[in-house]
Amino acid sequence: MAVDTARPLALDDYFDKHILQKYNTSGPRYTSYPTAVAFTENYNNNEDDVAYELLANSENADSVSIYIHIPFCHKLCYYCGCNKIVTRHHDKADLYLDYLHKEFLLKSSSLKGCTIKDVHLGGGTPNFLTIAQMKRLKDMLNAYFTFADNAEFSIELDPRTVTLDYLTRLYALGFTRVSFGIQDANHKVQEAINRTQDSAHIKKLIAHAKKLGFDSVNLDLIYGLPHQNESTFEETLQLVEDISPDRVSLFSYAHMPQMFAAQRKIKDDWLPSATAKFALFRQAIAFMNALGYEFIGMDHFAKTDDKLSIAHRNKTLYRNFQGYTTGIANACIGFGCSSISSIGHIYQQNAKSLNDYYAMLDQNTLPIVKGVVLNQDDVIRRDLIHTLMCNFEVDKTKFGKKHSIDFDTYFQSELETLESMQQDKLLTDNAEKIIVHDRGRLIVRNICMSFDQYLAQPMHQMRYSRVI
Ligand SMILES: C[S@@+](CC[C@H](N)C(=O)[O-])C[C@H]1O[C@@H](n2cnc3c(N)ncnc32)[C@H](O)[C@@H]1O
Ligand code: SF4
Repeated sequence: MAVDTARPLALDDYFDKHILQKYNTSGPRYTSYPTAVAFTENYNNNEDDVAYELLANSENADSVSIYIHIPFCHKLCYYCGCNKIVTRHHDKADLYLDYLHKEFLLKSSSLKGCTIKDVHLGGGTPNFLTIAQMKRLKDMLNAYFTFADNAEFSIELDPRTVTLDYLTRLYALGFTRVSFGIQDANHKVQEAINRTQDSAHIKKLIAHAKKLGFDSVNLDLIYGLPHQNESTFEETLQLVEDISPDRVSLFSYAHMPQMFAAQRKIKDDWLPSATAKFALFRQAIAFMNALGYEFIGMDHFAKTDDKLSIAHRNKTLYRNFQGYTTGIANACIGFGCSSISSIGHIYQQNAKSLNDYYAMLDQNTLPIVKGVVLNQDDVIRRDLIHTLMCNFEVDKTKFGKKHSIDFDTYFQSELETLESMQQDKLLTDNAEKIIVHDRGRLIVRNICMSFDQYLAQPMHQMRYSRVI
């Protein structure tokens, strides 16, 4: 049975507890392939100019995305795995904008001839910027880049530090999409993660965002947080029902205290067991299904008339560093510390620390410290992994033609590793297609891992979170 987006979710197709337990290993989320773990300092950066040139002179030049990382946060959330700096000093953002300006200046000449179709502000907390700082950023963007008429401007917001007036002004500045970090509505859970917030304020904010006319309102939730259980999670889901957002991202809590020191404040015995975590996920899918949301990819929900659902049904879903999105972006140019750019056959990552980021820009050099140049095999595998993650199906003949390979010969050993998954009825691998069944959808990361050439390398195993 292939993924049939026309019929409602049959929960038991997705949830075979024994299967999920068997495959609940650690693995990448494949927002890129190869993943950032494979980026190295000594990649061949001579290729950078080539990639930019190819982009500017190709038919892809009109579908370029920009990501801007704003690293500052007002307060530390203990679960957080993002690259952030907690501070109360708003003038730090003025200095940061000075350096973003330098980076725009350095990169914009390579992007002449490109049309930007969307800009995403992520973090950290983009609303750490005051409206005056945000206006400065918008003016800088307009000065250096050319935008499509219907370009989207999206922003991640921390509801604890956003006012109704701030939202009104964001809308006036031309932002079209807003995403609010909710995580969980229960007070005990919020205390354990050092993030108490008022649901009444969140409801007012979102009602206001809808009234203003933002094209889309998204909520971020996390399952698997300390003290969460089906009863506490009901409160969070109830909040979603009350708010009725266009989209919900439901992330599996990535607990990696070896990498994120603040997570050590979360005691292991506060965390739900793997079985309890599955139950939360199941509960969320059932609840969202009953509300009429479509389940998209591995971890998103959207109203049926939302662009994301339409892209899901049309099999034009795309995946970028932020997760599932609509429409293909042939290049994503990152700005700000730790941001990643994807341009044709290269990935580049900026310096993570502010000091390094500033120091490189002071030298008038691009603040890129790591990257990878994809070889032909990487390009083929990236396309395959992307197709599996987004469409849950690969047409072997079409794919083979596109990359001038005989699919079954090229991937002979990988297809052998899929056999046990086929026996577990997670997928079908026949002469024409690989089809991921509904019950394999939640562990599509494992299926993709079979095609990942880098996982055998020692650094890779310890760097990823659990699949569920
Ligand atoms: C940059 S934050 C969103 C904006 C804002 N800083 C906020 O927290 O409201 C990005 C999102 O990543 C998710 N996130 C952060 N750390 C995570 C973790 N360890 N596991 C799963 N999701 C996580 C949260 O859902 C969070 O809303
Ligand atoms: S979850 Fe958001 S607000 Fe909290 S520390 Fe991370 S980036 Fe900052």
